[in-house]
Amino acid sequence: MTEEIEQELIEENEVVSLEILDDGVARLTIERESALNALNVETLLSLRDAIIDCAESEDVKVVILTGSGDKAFVAGADIAEMKDMTPLEARDFSHLGQDTFATIEACPKPVIAMVNGFALGGGLELAMACHLRVASSKAKLGLPETSLGLIPGFGGTQRLAQLAGAGVAREWILSADMFSAEEAHRVGVVNRLADPENLEAETFELARTLSSRGALAMKTANEVVRLGLEVGQSEGEASESDNFALLFSNEEAREGLKAFTEKRKPNW
Ligand code: HXC
Repeated sequence: MTEEIEQELIEENEVVSLEILDDGVARLTIERESALNALNVETLLSLRDAIIDCAESEDVKVVILTGSGDKAFVAGADIAEMKDMTPLEARDFSHLGQDTFATIEACPKPVIAMVNGFALGGGLELAMACHLRVASSKAKLGLPETSLGLIPGFGGTQRLAQLAGAGVAREWILSADMFSAEEAHRVGVVNRLADPENLEAETFELARTLSSRGALAMKTANEVVRLGLEVGQSEGEASESDNFALLFSNEEAREGLKAFTEKRKPNW
């Protein structure tokens, strides 16, 4: 797809809204409530664009990603759009989703998925591409693709195995079952659970905690953890010590260490 066509699609659609709050927390919302926020091409392109905006904005320290309405985070890739795809179109679609989610994972600001309801298929794959997940206790999560004769195609085969191990990944993918938020929390797919009425407050509290931490340190930590999943222990540790050292060349760590010894909060 040419850049021009991509840009037109983004401008014509308001399928993703971006709100930047005063305290450096950005809220990205997928606005397709009538289709349970299913991911079509336009939504993936808008999402990628909005994440790049957040990455570049000096006003954004932390991003919260969620779905509109109280029923679904995202109920998957758009089945109506996928129904008539050719194999080549399906591969392009998979690549677009993988690229969009890689952009989220590589975002230099922490991205928290606020899982407010169903997170199925591409929706769970999206949540797993975020750095952290806070879920409503009423959310249902799963990878139902095999019930459609498909497999996950937006990175889910890899990220679920990384988060919860190959045994859980195979069980979730092969069974296509939906799992409770409690179960997702138990196996490590979800970081924190919240009662539905407290989901926003608890997610924003976590976001504000992160916005008080060293921005460069968080960016570096996310990169080193990501690298460690792709290389062996010794290469991962080499990157860890190099990056640890590199932080000493930056004012952020100097101020963080000084503030501790002066018994005050860092002034970043
Ligand atoms: C398109 C969807 C959708 C989806 C829901 N809708 N999920 N449209 N794609 N993934 C639409 C419905 O068609 C319906 O539209 C409206 O949203 C409300 O959904 P209902 O089914 O009426 O709601 P309910 O009975 O409460 O059931 C909720 C649900 C069910 C259990 C979440 O909608 C469901 O099973 N959805 C599909 C989940 C799924 O299989 N996801 C994986 C997709 S494959 P109308 O117009 O009728 O009101 C995938 C692959 C990713 O994600 C990788 C790609 C490369």
